[in-house]
Amino acid sequence: MPKSVRRKLEQVLTAGWRDSRSRGWFQQHWLDLPFELGRRLAPLIGAGADDVIFCDNTSINLFKMLAAALALRSERRFILTESANFGTDLYIAEALCERSGGRHAMRYAADAVDLSAMIDSETAVVYLSLVDYRDSRRHDLAAITRAAHAQGALVVWDLSHAAGAVAIDLLTADVDFAVGCGYKYLCGGPGAPAFLFVHPRWQQDAVSIIPGWMGHADMLAFEPTYRPAAGIRRFLTGTSPVLANTIALAALEIWAEIEPAALFAKHRGLSELLVQLIDRELAPFGAKLASPRDYDQRGGHIALAVNNAETVLDQLLQRGVQCSLRKPQLIRFGLAPLGLRYVDVWDGIATIKDILQHPH
Ligand SMILES: Cc1ncc(COP(=O)(O)O)c(C=O)c1O
Repeated sequence: MPKSVRRKLEQVLTAGWRDSRSRGWFQQHWLDLPFELGRRLAPLIGAGADDVIFCDNTSINLFKMLAAALALRSERRFILTESANFGTDLYIAEALCERSGGRHAMRYAADAVDLSAMIDSETAVVYLSLVDYRDSRRHDLAAITRAAHAQGALVVWDLSHAAGAVAIDLLTADVDFAVGCGYKYLCGGPGAPAFLFVHPRWQQDAVSIIPGWMGHADMLAFEPTYRPAAGIRRFLTGTSPVLANTIALAALEIWAEIEPAALFAKHRGLSELLVQLIDRELAPFGAKLASPRDYDQRGGHIALAVNNAETVLDQLLQRGVQCSLRKPQLIRFGLAPLGLRYVDVWDGIATIKDILQHPH
């Protein structure tokens, strides 16, 4: 939690809510927060300052981005994804297909090799999570985007387990649409708004499937008919959460002070250390690295395969080692470079080793 959060919230509650009340939307620039957050995130994901906004949650943004991409390729049939994609990503794509009146259908690849071979002239959208939420396997963003474009398909990437941990260059890779969580490596706080990215070439043609008043061309004219705003603004829906945006801004202000390359180098350093220590300290007790060994094939976290993972996880949490379980036997360690220190990795490993050495 950024130290400035309390102060910033206090300011919004007193100078904002108490004193300005609804005038706060203008006096305190609350309407600009979705854009301000986007401008601050942009350098971390290789986007232009006007190509990103924070709004809604990741699921809703996936729905908006995928629907927009499909509408731009409406004559094509398939959404190509992986069966291992995160639940919400799959549910949303399946729901869009079901409601398309037979126009669109899903295709599921079993793995990355399979996937490249499946992109063809009937593919409307290649729709993937950059990093697997279980084992942290990372796709090749640029290569898959290239392969999709070579067949005339568009791409929608979910960057949730990568943004703020590993270097991403959306414009260089020519990505069409992307989304991601604000509450993971970006440290935007519990329930932080999510972000969405639209490539400038689509910002005038892509339409929002949730045409809310905040995305209207003239929001305060209260027209009876929807007209999309110019640019990325059209992907706003309704009133945004000012308190959550304020908290997220406290974190993104820190990001703005940091050279992204230095931070990604730190993430790499933390990850390589963890892998090394897993091999050296934990392997003798039956715990194994369950993520790819090559850094460029991994995302933000590292997964460890252990027996009795649920019990080990409980003990780790009790002893202050932050991690999460993906059943049946994976324990995930998210290496957030903004706050985590090398010594934390050493201490965490010592605790895991102790638990594995003395099972009870
Ligand atoms: C890859 C991925 N996509 C989407 C989500 C869902 O995000 P939200 O709860 O913001 O809709 C998650 C949540 O952990 C996730 O891991």
